[in-house]
Amino acid sequence: MGMRKGIILAGGKGSRLYPMTKTVNKQLQSVYDKPMIYYPLSTLINCSIREVLIITTREQCGLFVDLLGNGSELGMHIEYAIQDQPKGISEAFIIGEDFLDGDPVTLVLGDNIFYGDDFYKDLMYISKQNENCVFGYRVSNPSLYGVVEFERPSDSYERNVKVVSIEEKPDEPKSNYAVPGLYFYDNSVVDRAKALEPSERGELEITDLNNSYIRDKKLKVKLIRDSAAWFDTGDPDQMFEATMFVKSIQSRTGQMIGNIEEIAYRKKFVSEF
Ligand code: G1P
Repeated sequence: MGMRKGIILAGGKGSRLYPMTKTVNKQLQSVYDKPMIYYPLSTLINCSIREVLIITTREQCGLFVDLLGNGSELGMHIEYAIQDQPKGISEAFIIGEDFLDGDPVTLVLGDNIFYGDDFYKDLMYISKQNENCVFGYRVSNPSLYGVVEFERPSDSYERNVKVVSIEEKPDEPKSNYAVPGLYFYDNSVVDRAKALEPSERGELEITDLNNSYIRDKKLKVKLIRDSAAWFDTGDPDQMFEATMFVKSIQSRTGQMIGNIEEIAYRKKFVSEF
């Protein structure tokens, strides 16, 4: 197996953030004191991933290049690719086929923020395995997300309940566990993505890809402990909540969240100089 690579999907219209997104892509907007994309990039660095593909829109690609360049300042290698139409999250693997070149991959959505020391340690561990893994995070509003269906109904925090399927934005969710936008896959992912049919909304759904792994008994769903935090910052309320969270933790503990330079230094990607 080659080294695990990372993909950040930072496309989309950001329609729920209009008019903020009329001229500037969602993932370039600030969450407290950093551009949003710093947070998912820091998640990949926490996985010790050095090679990253950022997929974004044709109009905005140049702004991402201005922000992050070729990654050398972080001791990384960053490439860019275009998603012309929002044809679904799973299309990222088809767009990224040449970049991946048969290596395993971690995909993180450009508007997803993760926080938690134990969680970062879990990520390090998972990243080293050649496993397919997604997460479950307990939320009060699961209908907005991909939702885990467990083999037996479970409201409590149980780590080893078997997962039967994942449903995308169900009206009647079968659990309170949402699947965050962070996915670890082996190198069968490109073929699996190519075999998907578009959903009713015309997208190659990440949930269908996960179900293809579940059918083959090849997907781990790891429940994230309550001590960790996950935000999807796709609308103004969620962005505001994430902003308040980052501000509170940083002011209270003096620890930064999403500080890519600091994490790249801790991972020994770059020297102190
Ligand atoms: C997407 C996925 C959904 C996932 C969510 C996580 O939804 O389709 O399965 O739970 O990301 O952020 P979106 O937020 O793009 O509507």
